Amino acid sequence: MKTFHITTFGCQMNEHDSEIMAGMLMEKGYAPADSRDSADIVIFNTCSIRENADKRFFGTLGTLKKRKMAEREAFTVCVCGCMMQQQHIIDTLKAKFPWVDVVFGTHNLHELPKLLDNLYTEKKKQLEVWPDGGEIVEGLPAERLFKHKSFVNIMYGCNNFCSYCIVPYTRGRERSRKPEDIVAEVKRLVADGVKEVTLLGQNVNSYKGCGEKGQADFTDLIYMLADIEGLERIRFMTSHPKDLSDKLIEAFKNCDKLCKYIHLPVQSGSTKVLKEMNRKYSREHYLELVKKIKTAVPEITISTDIIVGFPGETEEEFEDTLKLAEEVGYDSAFTFLYSIREGTPAARREDQVPEETKHERFNRLVDLINSTSAQKNAEYVGRVEKVLVDGASRSKDSVYEGRTDGFKLVNFLGPEGLEGKIVSVKITDSNTFSLSGEMVRE
Ligand code: 5AD
Ligand code: SF4
Repeated sequence: MKTFHITTFGCQMNEHDSEIMAGMLMEKGYAPADSRDSADIVIFNTCSIRENADKRFFGTLGTLKKRKMAEREAFTVCVCGCMMQQQHIIDTLKAKFPWVDVVFGTHNLHELPKLLDNLYTEKKKQLEVWPDGGEIVEGLPAERLFKHKSFVNIMYGCNNFCSYCIVPYTRGRERSRKPEDIVAEVKRLVADGVKEVTLLGQNVNSYKGCGEKGQADFTDLIYMLADIEGLERIRFMTSHPKDLSDKLIEAFKNCDKLCKYIHLPVQSGSTKVLKEMNRKYSREHYLELVKKIKTAVPEITISTDIIVGFPGETEEEFEDTLKLAEEVGYDSAFTFLYSIREGTPAARREDQVPEETKHERFNRLVDLINSTSAQKNAEYVGRVEKVLVDGASRSKDSVYEGRTDGFKLVNFLGPEGLEGKIVSVKITDSNTFSLSGEMVRE
């Protein structure tokens, strides 16, 4: 029996793709290995978003050459994911890494078992990347990281073409799964012990499922899932502000199972920069949205993505971002240094912001975000929060870690056997990135 190891770069979508690859391989009789070094089959699931992704990936891949040359057919190297959807990556692989055995893309992930079969029977390298997504493939197994929570794809691809972003080129156009297929999957997951699902899509707000009972939009889908007995929490990722509906805001109020947390990427606080990013909303529109959400659900937690140093960004425009972040008061934020993605419109601009300026702005933003996060977290001290227990804590002073409804990380003390349960925790302390406390008995 051959063993496999998957290294995943990037977002939740990629993490979930890796869970699906593991599920397919285990169904075929392959077994997970403890480490990359001990695995017979090594798989890299790549990402194109992160800075210097290409360099880092090729660097790591290069370290396998020696072993490949020594072990030949006994050792299999596979690469897949977003980077494979870019021609210049495929060209580099062919030229510099001809010893890689299997190459596939985001649209034909389900072909992994077949490509491995072909490799072993034909004794020939397999390179198969589809330029676009075909029919959505249903019914793929997944080997979940957690027994009690799961990612669920509700749609694939993106139609928005933000001018800095590579995703529409690597993940193709938007395609929504049928609502009944999603409901059936979540029912199966719940029967298997899942209490929380995170619905995944590049822009879940534009979900449009054509079901047997007609069309369902994203909020309809949430209500359908909320009816499933045994499912306790519904989360989702990611929302584009331009498509966030009043109907969804209402659902936060009406649907107990919908967690009171929203990740709402703003990218910039300057209307001019937002226009150049092709985001299709203004600073004012975004702030108005946040106000509406907070009025409807005062306890909601909000996180965001912000890009610093988009081409042409001036000091004043950056300060607009700082002011917006202060005004919103984010619970947390992912901050990115703008970096060129070959093939996107922003990459062609000549007014790129100097690295030094980008870093200096980035640090100022991170300082502000961190102090707001710490302040927001401090407000929880003394409260009792419901926590879904993920497992043993990584902090040495604590037993468990888990997440509140609002997605706050909590380290806490409690008796044995709580993993996967929802328990009440009294928050006794806080810092920038987490809360800590003690379990209380009901
Ligand atoms: N440079 C920097 N950050 C980027 N992101 C996407 N493309 C780029 C880029 N070229 C960020 C955006 C997005 C997050 C997933 O990654 O903030 O929301
Ligand atoms: Fe990229 Fe914009 Fe699509 Fe998000 S909405 S994946 S940032 S193009």
